[in-house]
Amino acid sequence: PVQPLKPLIVKEPEVEEDDGKKKVTIFFGTQTGTAEGFAKALVEEARARYEKATFKVVDLDDYAADDDEYEEKLKKESLAFFFLATYGDGEPTDNAARFYKWFTEGNERGKWLSNMQYGVFGLGNRQYEHFNKVAKVVDEILAEQGAKRLLPVGLGDDDQCIEDDFSAWRELVWPELDQLLWDEADGPTVSTPYTAAVLEYRVVFYDPADAPINDNNWSNANGHAVYDAQHPCRSNVAVRKELHTPASDRSCTHLEFDIAGTGLSYETGDHVGVYCENLIETVEEAVKLLGLSPDTYFSIHSDKEDGTPISGSSLPPPFPPCTLRTALTRYADLLSSPKKSALLALAADASDPTDADRLRHLASAAGKDEYAQWVVANQRSLLEVMAEFPSARPPLGVFFASVAQRLQPRYYSISSSPRMAPSRIHVTCALVYEKTPTGRVHKGVCSTWMKNAVPLEKSQECSWAPIFVRQSNFKLPADSKVPIIMIGPGTGLAPFRGFLQERFALKEAGAELGPSILFFGCRNRRMDYIYEEELNNFVVSGALSELVVAFSREGPTKEYVQHKMMEKASDIWNMISQGGYIYVCGDAKGMARDVHRSLHTIVQEQGSLDSSKAESMVKNLQMTGRYLRDVW
Ligand code: 2AM
Repeated sequence: PVQPLKPLIVKEPEVEEDDGKKKVTIFFGTQTGTAEGFAKALVEEARARYEKATFKVVDLDDYAADDDEYEEKLKKESLAFFFLATYGDGEPTDNAARFYKWFTEGNERGKWLSNMQYGVFGLGNRQYEHFNKVAKVVDEILAEQGAKRLLPVGLGDDDQCIEDDFSAWRELVWPELDQLLWDEADGPTVSTPYTAAVLEYRVVFYDPADAPINDNNWSNANGHAVYDAQHPCRSNVAVRKELHTPASDRSCTHLEFDIAGTGLSYETGDHVGVYCENLIETVEEAVKLLGLSPDTYFSIHSDKEDGTPISGSSLPPPFPPCTLRTALTRYADLLSSPKKSALLALAADASDPTDADRLRHLASAAGKDEYAQWVVANQRSLLEVMAEFPSARPPLGVFFASVAQRLQPRYYSISSSPRMAPSRIHVTCALVYEKTPTGRVHKGVCSTWMKNAVPLEKSQECSWAPIFVRQSNFKLPADSKVPIIMIGPGTGLAPFRGFLQERFALKEAGAELGPSILFFGCRNRRMDYIYEEELNNFVVSGALSELVVAFSREGPTKEYVQHKMMEKASDIWNMISQGGYIYVCGDAKGMARDVHRSLHTIVQEQGSLDSSKAESMVKNLQMTGRYLRDVW
């Protein structure tokens, strides 16, 4: 059985009063909170500007319990804005997935949305093939189905400065709303430039002697019926192994989380979300920059002492009371580049006016290029930026609300199958370790934590992490006789190890298996050929029919998986013709795109089709769920 991702919430039916005010609904599909933050920022200013309208910010998942309710409620919306993030292979966020599936599949509805005027802002990253796909698609379908587009879809690019993209788009929103929401008598007020408000938690300090609870708790992680990102499951690290040989100058970790007795379960092909910890050295640096004792015991609150919420209530939920050391270790993203709003928050607390001016300049329109270069292109971390402005020492309430973003869980394709490892979740994780332009060595937070994790095998005092499972649609065909083609270089191998474990178990249980081929790629057989022995054993046992490996740094020329695919073109074509499935896992920016082109070429050449027929055939494979990608 699969864990539902969200607890079922039974809601009271809403009673809408007609107060004669125009109603505006702002929807968001968010993963890390940015889309939600923008939605709330838009509403906060809109409320101040338009007194004769009411604004409601709505999580797309909470809006409707089922498809019929989506239809029924959307039909009544007359003015709506959508903030939609795109992930991985052009996918929606978890909280928008249900809406997106329903909305994109319903092309027989006609012009049913003619009552609606709308605007869409997308959050994406230009480095990816499907840049802002979700926002673009929703924007287009809204128009096709009769809604009136008020302004062009905003294409936020997280690779540069998404706050600027949002600001620019917002400036196009106001003139439209002025026309719709102002009475003639009022006349428009002057537009104020967008500056994110500096938010601040209320902080309560404790004497460590009577601190509320022990420091080892994690958000009441356990004891919750359903595990999800908000309610992760505390899991011990049972096994940790290095997968590269000593000859390699890189590192890849095999990790096994013990989920026995936790109630957490998973399916082959799912993802695991892992909350990791910052390195001690990173935390110590942050402690120094904040100028407080690491043992400071405190709690943060998003309401005032009288219980009323603090400004706009767009603060992430508070974490449990703990020491500053723990808060910085578990909850603060210290190594990402600071957003402009963080620079403004630092400026507000800079005692040296020169520091404050320079921070404000970096966050201003005039400082746009400097921000793009000095912060973004140089990959300056929050800590590096804070070190440059020693007089900016924000109090903890500001630091955790407006300066440091919340440390986000990292997602990994699970590399095991519950049929082989029912009480373990395996992860295969390449170490992120690279020099940035400023000379800093960037150590990936989660991959470094995994590399250093102490397994239960070695010590009772083993490492643990709060984890949860996210369902995916990267699944083996229901019929094990259907041929499968798997393409996964590097750690893209992870889900296929799970697939092969599953096929092995199926075979042991007497199932008949269809043909399968795996294309794996690495640099050099002696260095980074991960799980080599296991893969060979899968061939021997018949779980895998054929293993094809591309070594990119052995011979005089680079050999990649897609080159090997071309050599096997006729086999691939035969398998596709027999109803086979194609799976690709790994890097979205380079590999998956190149593999996609090769697949197109194979279909075109082997099927003697022209380019556009080949394209529509590949599209059809995608649409029917026979060409699946798990890419990042
Ligand atoms: P390289 O590092 O020698 O370029 C796993 O990371 C393997 O994928 C490596 O052998 C790597 O080769 C290879 N790789 C890098 N870019 C690729 C691409 N665009 N397509 C396929 N494989 C790629």
